[in-house]
Amino acid sequence: MTSTPPTVDWTALREEARAAMRRAYAPYSGYPVGVAALVDDGRVVTGCNVENASYGVGLCAECGLVSQLQNSGGGRLTHFTCVDGNGEILVPCGRCRQLLYEFGGPDLLLETPAGILPLSEMLPQAFGPDHLSK
Ligand code: THU
Repeated sequence: MTSTPPTVDWTALREEARAAMRRAYAPYSGYPVGVAALVDDGRVVTGCNVENASYGVGLCAECGLVSQLQNSGGGRLTHFTCVDGNGEILVPCGRCRQLLYEFGGPDLLLETPAGILPLSEMLPQAFGPDHLSK
């Protein structure tokens, strides 16, 4: 049984992202990022970026979020927000839009500097799981 809250408290979700951002490990870029999302069963999942001395293998905050999602019971992401080191709303990078698409699909709502937008507007004509079953 899944349920979506009638009204979503974006401010509370952003605070979860800010708390995650403060746990980031970003000694190389100096650019901490935090993310938070609602799951269709009411759970909240979060993530922070975790960098590496081998720069190219650093993990975006969204990697931690989708890992937590899967490892805490799966489900679908319904609402997502991302913040920078100042706690300001940030757009997810291109690769991470693909990660979000896998677990939220085109209707996932994102808080962006331009307002609340569906992922379909942030990742148009997305490649996704459906292509592999055609
Ligand atoms: N970063 C994220 O964690 N998520 C994004 O969507 C944008 C970029 C991180 C990766 C790297 O640790 C730092 O921000 C600077 O690029």
